[in-house]
Amino acid sequence: MKTLRKLTQLTTLTCCLSLPVGAWAGEVEVLHWWTSGGEAKSVAVLKQLLEDAGHKWQDMAVAGGGGESAMTVLKSRVVSGDPPTAAQIKGPTIQEWGDEGTLTNLNSVAKAGNWDQLLPKVVSDVMKYDGNYVATPVNVHRVNWMWANPAVFEKAGAKIPTTWEEFAVAAEKIQAAGMIPVAHGGQSWQDATTFESIVLGIGGADFFNKAFVDLDSKTLNSPTMVKSFDMLRTVQKYTDKDSPGRDWNLATAMVIKGEAGMQFMGDWAKGEFTAAGKKPGKDYVCLPAPGTAGAFTFNIDSFAMFEVRDRSAKQAQNDLARIIMEPEFQEVFNLNKGSIPARLGMSMAKFDSCAKDSSAEFVSSSKTGQLVPSMAHGMSTFSSVQGAIYDTVTAFFNSDMSSRDAARKLASAVQGAK
Ligand code: BGC
Repeated sequence: MKTLRKLTQLTTLTCCLSLPVGAWAGEVEVLHWWTSGGEAKSVAVLKQLLEDAGHKWQDMAVAGGGGESAMTVLKSRVVSGDPPTAAQIKGPTIQEWGDEGTLTNLNSVAKAGNWDQLLPKVVSDVMKYDGNYVATPVNVHRVNWMWANPAVFEKAGAKIPTTWEEFAVAAEKIQAAGMIPVAHGGQSWQDATTFESIVLGIGGADFFNKAFVDLDSKTLNSPTMVKSFDMLRTVQKYTDKDSPGRDWNLATAMVIKGEAGMQFMGDWAKGEFTAAGKKPGKDYVCLPAPGTAGAFTFNIDSFAMFEVRDRSAKQAQNDLARIIMEPEFQEVFNLNKGSIPARLGMSMAKFDSCAKDSSAEFVSSSKTGQLVPSMAHGMSTFSSVQGAIYDTVTAFFNSDMSSRDAARKLASAVQGAK
């Protein structure tokens, strides 16, 4: 923080010595979907650092967890020939945008900043199109978390679950004690987020990869997938009647307030606990989703950058890319966001126990083959396949479809979207 402040003072000085008051050296327009309390605090760090470097930040926030609405807006902007400077785009979708030929080349910034040495290969590979850097990573989120309020469990006389069988026992007790077992928002990306943690917990990492990376039909329509849908049905039974359409951060607030026992969500949820002044291990606990200890579903947020013509805009864009990879940003942003830095060799001293666990598991899971890309957050497939999976999981969630039918439909929907 001190370094950030020092940097802030320094760059402000540079900016104001060389520029007339009120003038900006360049401008960036940044499209993102970070609108919850914790998310807004996080993106404010980037805006501040960019402004300290003398540039104007034009904010283009498109509300909607998971980013589906943001991607719709982005498409229409690009189609009309007016792309933003940078957009929150991640995973294989970066390749889809690369194919469109609208992304810019960030190699000179990457070379000067030593990105090849500073990023794990699993991250830098995703940031490149055709061997060239086109995007900059801001973090690594772990998706397979469970956020629990220990006071709710205590009141209900329930044990915080580590397996899906234990989950059902605990959920029953919480419900019997008059509280909501699972805080959930019935939106397709949230259904998919819960579902992928169940699949990982029941099937394991190899099964997860065969289903959501290899898109193997036999795996998608298998007894283990049927079992996973069965468990999703059980989880659904323990959500409340107001869950349809609820935003994820409102579900997190239910756990914070002790109205609900637990939420299955990536660690952006921790950003909400942090913003509410809550402490892990005391006010809430973070545990791997049942059955997923030792495994890590990764979700890397990044900004892909579009071609800009104007020289000052290019300078501002390059500064944005440079700042994102600097330690000050990677630390402060991730302290707020709930994630861990994407950049290697960062000190975790200021991070809490959940982030320290995440950091340790990121390294160890990569050695044991249990580091898997999140399907629900666009890391494992192209968007068309992800959409087909979302549709099936949500259709199951919102009807009385049998688990067998769901698994059959999942395999055929994925086949059709490939
Ligand atoms: C993004 C996170 C974001 C979350 C909720 C995820 O897909 O990677 O950065 O906080 O959606 O909007």
